[in-house]
Amino acid sequence: MVRRKHFLRQLLAAALLLIVVPGSLQGPHEKRLLTILLESYNVLERPVANESEPLEVKFGLTLQQIIDVDEKNQILTTNAWLNLEWTDYNLRWNETEYGGVKDLRITPNKLWKPDVLMYNSADEGFDGTFQTNVVVKHNGSCLYIPPGIFKSTCKIDITWFPFDDQHCDMKFGSWTHDGNQLDLILNSDTGGDLSDFITNGEWYLIGMPGKKNTIVYACCPEPYVDVTFTIQIRRRTLYYFFNLIVPCVLISSMALLGFTLPPDSGEKLTLGTYFNCIMFMVASSVVLTVVVLNYHHRTADIHEMPQWIKTVFLQWLPWMLGMSRPGKKITRKTIMMNSRMKELELKERSSKSLLANVLDIDDDIRNVSGVAGNSSTMTTSLGPGFGRNATTIEDAAIPGTSTGQRDLQLILKELQFITNRMKKADEEAEVISDWKFAAMVVDRFCLIIFTLFTIIATVAVLLSAPHIIVQ
Ligand SMILES: *[C@@H]1O[C@H](CO)[C@@H](O)[C@H](O)[C@H]1NC(C)=O
Ligand SMILES: *[C@@H]1O[C@H](CO)[C@@H](O)[C@H](O)[C@H]1NC(C)=O
Ligand SMILES: *[C@@H]1O[C@H](CO)[C@@H](O)[C@H](O)[C@H]1NC(C)=O
Ligand SMILES: *[C@@H]1O[C@H](CO)[C@@H](O)[C@H](O)[C@H]1NC(C)=O
Ligand SMILES: *[C@@H]1O[C@H](CO)[C@@H](O)[C@H](O)[C@H]1NC(C)=O
Ligand SMILES: *[C@@H]1O[C@H](CO)[C@@H](O)[C@H](O)[C@H]1NC(C)=O
Repeated sequence: MVRRKHFLRQLLAAALLLIVVPGSLQGPHEKRLLTILLESYNVLERPVANESEPLEVKFGLTLQQIIDVDEKNQILTTNAWLNLEWTDYNLRWNETEYGGVKDLRITPNKLWKPDVLMYNSADEGFDGTFQTNVVVKHNGSCLYIPPGIFKSTCKIDITWFPFDDQHCDMKFGSWTHDGNQLDLILNSDTGGDLSDFITNGEWYLIGMPGKKNTIVYACCPEPYVDVTFTIQIRRRTLYYFFNLIVPCVLISSMALLGFTLPPDSGEKLTLGTYFNCIMFMVASSVVLTVVVLNYHHRTADIHEMPQWIKTVFLQWLPWMLGMSRPGKKITRKTIMMNSRMKELELKERSSKSLLANVLDIDDDIRNVSGVAGNSSTMTTSLGPGFGRNATTIEDAAIPGTSTGQRDLQLILKELQFITNRMKKADEEAEVISDWKFAAMVVDRFCLIIFTLFTIIATVAVLLSAPHIIVQ
């Protein structure tokens, strides 16, 4: 019945087209077909002939790449394509009537599509798929292959690191339909499609079996269907073998070697001493590296540079190591001058007039403003007004001055503010650069000390041996 109606409608449309475009049946068939198909199509309608039957959706997964295995956050990131195939009862046509148009590509938001989602998604947007077109065949079969970056939660167990296998599930199912309405069927017995898989440097892919689960919960009679793929990966140990295991085995075997030497040979003690030295050196180098990094990342608003660090790391040590900074020469003379200047600065600060100190302005600024306005106005108005109850220059300067002068005072204040800001920014940049330079100095100092230490220890051990070359 429905089909006949459909056919009638198609006929009617064809007749209409004949009237509108006389003399040609070979019109734009695809356009006509799309108009007819989508005219009365409802995106929300589950496209089945008999509503009490479930719609079968063949489901598959093509794994392209394992992007990341995040052990700390227990998240597996993969690049994969979903593969959904179903038959839409409302999207069928007779191809001979439409100039042999066999298939159409339609955007998914114009069609009903199964709301299959990955249940254990850890993506910010939950569904990480790209909505590609659906390929619709003349017999109603729809093929939808959305690619996507999937972030799935995965219980990662690193007990056997670096010899561990991980099993990560990707569970897919319809979010709203139960098994009586939408039935998922695995499209391949072997599980996921791995033919396009790009091998991963850190993980070896063992396999990706898929399984369909049908669960009936105690609460409700309807079954719930999901398809779960398990990505089975094994860590490639070669990297960890050379970078972790081999050095450990070598060091420990060298320590053991000491015990195989006969006690009366003097080298037994020397070898042990040498190992102790090296171990001490490695440990202290780690500590000093931490100090260097700490200095390097300090900023002005959190750390103030103590005077002794300034003297030692910015002046004496760089001078001894022959280091220099662009724009700042470091010689004995500059170091002396620096300390002299500091003293002068302190003295100057204490000799600055009381008023200037309180207002935090320099004496010469006051003089400039006096010249600009009227030198007597400001000092006299400041004098009696300030001492008693005026709180700002502005307040103090108001009585007896014209508005023009008041504006000048305001401009002076603004200027003072801007200058202070710039001065502060400059000072902060200077402090950061100072810390960075201090870090560099400590680094250089350690390099020299450790090099000397290594050379001395090696030479001392070699020389203390009774004979170096076996004869
Ligand atoms: C629809 O399907 C149900 C169960 O399969 C069947 O009992 C019923 O007769 C079908 N109805 C039609 C109109 O085919
Ligand atoms: C398609 O249409 C042609 C001509 O109108 C007809 O001969 C053919 O039987 C139709 N095929 C189907 C499957 O209805
Ligand atoms: C629809 O036609 C294609 C070939 O054009 C065929 O592979 C597919 O199985 C058909 N689907 C149905 C549901 O008949
Ligand atoms: C202010 O300027 C006058 C000359 O205009 C000068 O004699 C005086 O010393 C200056 N005062 C200060 C504190 O610089
Ligand atoms: C500036 O001061 C002089 C005296 O030093 C005075 O004669 C003159 O009126 C003052 N000008 C203003 C605008 O206050
Ligand atoms: C400031 O002091 C003057 C007297 O010198 C007084 O008349 C005035 O009320 C005071 N203003 C304030 C806000 O205290």
